[in-house]
Amino acid sequence: MTINTEETGIIKATLQHCEDGTTDMLPELMRNPVTTYTDPENLKNEVDILFRKFPIIMGHVEQLAEAGSYFTNDEVGIPILVTRNNDGVIKAFLNVCRHRGARLTNEPCGKSKTFSCPYHKWTYDLNGKLRGLPQAAGFGDIDKSTLGLVELPAFERFGLIWVRPSTSDEPLDLDAWIAPLEEQLSSLNLENHTVFKEWSLDRNMNWHLALEGFQESYHFCGAHEHTACSAYLDNQSVWLDKFPHVRHSVPLPTVVTMKDQPTEDWDYRPHFMTQNYVFPCNYVQVMTDHVYIHTIIPTGIDTCIFKCMMLIPEAPETEKAERYWQKNYDVVRTVFNEDFEIGENIQKGLNTGTNTDFLFGRYEIGLHLGTKAIHEALAGRLGL
Ligand code: FES
Ligand SMILES: [Fe+2]
Repeated sequence: MTINTEETGIIKATLQHCEDGTTDMLPELMRNPVTTYTDPENLKNEVDILFRKFPIIMGHVEQLAEAGSYFTNDEVGIPILVTRNNDGVIKAFLNVCRHRGARLTNEPCGKSKTFSCPYHKWTYDLNGKLRGLPQAAGFGDIDKSTLGLVELPAFERFGLIWVRPSTSDEPLDLDAWIAPLEEQLSSLNLENHTVFKEWSLDRNMNWHLALEGFQESYHFCGAHEHTACSAYLDNQSVWLDKFPHVRHSVPLPTVVTMKDQPTEDWDYRPHFMTQNYVFPCNYVQVMTDHVYIHTIIPTGIDTCIFKCMMLIPEAPETEKAERYWQKNYDVVRTVFNEDFEIGENIQKGLNTGTNTDFLFGRYEIGLHLGTKAIHEALAGRLGL
């Protein structure tokens, strides 16, 4: 295993904290107004900006393995169809027919050479071009080239599929956007992973509450007393500001074994869980031997969708391997559920007026960094 300078730095910082009995801290507390989670105007603004202008992770390449493989996505509030064309390029379209607006395909996923509208059978190819319409004479000499599906920017990077859910002409340079996390994400080799499980939950809490559950480790021994608490060092995270993204490294207790080893023998992955916040609503959560991709999407002021894929390095070939990954999956479902139950209970108390602001402690650094990045975007200061 080779590790890079960034990871050597994370290990050094962790070992130093362990020796000194300290943890990463910012100089100041941060106060976050409770209206963040309760104000419908704020949410509207967030949807218009955060969930329209920035790329969102919508799948894994395995789900679009061949030309014509496709999946649909409605979670961000607009109907989207994502496919792979005959040149192997990922394409995303509004899942809306250009004749009279019918939903082009209703299937969650599938494979097709063309997309044929169920209403009057207008047919589009994998590049979204209108190829044919029955009894075309009834439409005179309309220009078919102006009636293709409406395309959204879509990308394939690090084995993941990213779509910007808006049609604006604003350019989007995904490589520049993701550059601060590029080295880490490309090292994960996710394009060669397989999706072991995929699930989607409707939860009764503002989307920020779900998001914030992954931005600090201060809560592990409270909320996850019988699960994550013993698996990690208590409240001992290292954060790297990868604006607008965040790298959050949570050490396992084994990290201290490296204390007496020469740095060239150090290894990062076996000793850390890494929660990478990928702005605005995704996480790439890297475990010692597998990875979770989360996407959190608001569906109302007090409701959200939590969507997750569990990626493993190879499909299990033995019952033992199957059991091993299943056990990991069961544990993570339990841990996430512990977070979401707390989040839903927070939501129930928000309108009591108990708090006007929430306090982000000096070591809840991911909350500071993530919240500031969102504020920058909402203020119009974060471009692509
Ligand atoms: S609405 Fe699609 S063919 Fe008429
Ligand atoms: Fe948690």
